[in-house]
Amino acid sequence: MVAHVEEVCVSASQQGKGLGLILIQALNATAKDLGVGKLILNCSKENIKFYEKCGYSIAGQQMELKCSS
Ligand SMILES: CC(C)(COP(=O)(O)OP(=O)(O)OC[C@H]1O[C@@H](n2cnc3c(N)ncnc32)[C@H](O)[C@@H]1OP(=O)(O)O)[C@@H](O)C(=O)NCCC(=O)NCCS
Repeated sequence: MVAHVEEVCVSASQQGKGLGLILIQALNATAKDLGVGKLILNCSKENIKFYEKCGYSIAGQQMELKCSS
């Protein structure tokens, strides 16, 4: 089972206080408890370091085809 992480956001005034890390670590633990085999997400280049600190690593490239106008 694969889970896709979406819409991660910490209020601008509260960023840099460790809340994002706590949020993702809780998410990681919940996914593990649920038997999720892999978590995947898309992020900007600027957020790669953050997700690496949350335990994630770069895995390939993403491709997409937008179908809606
Ligand atoms: C990305 C985001 C969720 C991080 O949350 P946060 O609460 O500010 O992050 P934390 O304070 O928990 O940071 C945890 C660690 O990651 C580092 N980090 C966080 N954002 C970083 C960034 N953009 N670049 C490099 N390091 C970063 C912190 O310095 C900290 O490192 P440390 O433990 O060595 O001090 C938050 O900045 C955010 O909501 N940004 C706007 C929305 C967004 O871009 N969401 C991601 C969509 S994929």
